[in-house]
Amino acid sequence: MTSSELSLRLARPAEAATIANLSRDLIEYGLRWRWTPIRVAACIRAPNVNVLVACVRENIAGFSIMRYGDNDAHLDLLAVAPTYRRAGVGRRLLEWLEKCAVIAGIFNVALEVRAGNQGAQLFYKRMGYRTIAHLPGYYQGIEAALRMGRDLSCRPLDHGIQRIQFNLSGFGVLYLATRSLSPDR
Ligand SMILES: CC(C)(COP(=O)(O)OP(=O)(O)OC[C@H]1O[C@@H](n2cnc3c(N)ncnc32)[C@H](O)[C@@H]1OP(=O)(O)O)[C@@H](O)C(=O)NCCC(=O)NCCS
Repeated sequence: MTSSELSLRLARPAEAATIANLSRDLIEYGLRWRWTPIRVAACIRAPNVNVLVACVRENIAGFSIMRYGDNDAHLDLLAVAPTYRRAGVGRRLLEWLEKCAVIAGIFNVALEVRAGNQGAQLFYKRMGYRTIAHLPGYYQGIEAALRMGRDLSCRPLDHGIQRIQFNLSGFGVLYLATRSLSPDR
């Protein structure tokens, strides 16, 4: 895969089942499936959530879901299919969603990661996240989580944001960008 073969865009409603299945297989293994197609479809429709997919030749190589609040953002899910790992796909997905947060004036991002998932923890550390808390039994009483967070305020906003693609479900990004320009902020 070359970097020009990889493209990022917001997910389409018809992709909810594919994304949910990836979550079940790559993230929620060993747990009760919570990110079902219905839940992912609701995220795709939600104005304060971005469901982002990374595509290589029409295939979904990875996806990520970030939820934006008034002051904080939360990374709900992030996964890259095994074939496409260690090629910068996870980094591209996360940086895209972080840029939306910065444009909206949101500088704190938090996430939870399974305590046994050392690969993902190393990835997040590499991306500038630090461990905030250890949450015993967080995953259905079966596994602990590490809560990790990043302060984006010291991170310069580069102009890559202009390359973000919009489609009909891009109101989330548009809404966030509009809020960041609001005079009453
Ligand atoms: C974690 C995950 C999203 C990383 O995606 P990725 O596309 O492979 O990550 P990148 O290629 O962008 O990695 C960027 C950097 O992070 C670090 N990194 C990524 N995966 C790592 C791993 N398994 N072990 C150690 N460091 C890792 C490396 O420093 C890497 O840079 P390098 O390859 O030049 O050394 C991917 O491994 C994955 O989908 N795992 C299963 C699902 C999951 O655990 N999701 C996160 C919890 S919700």
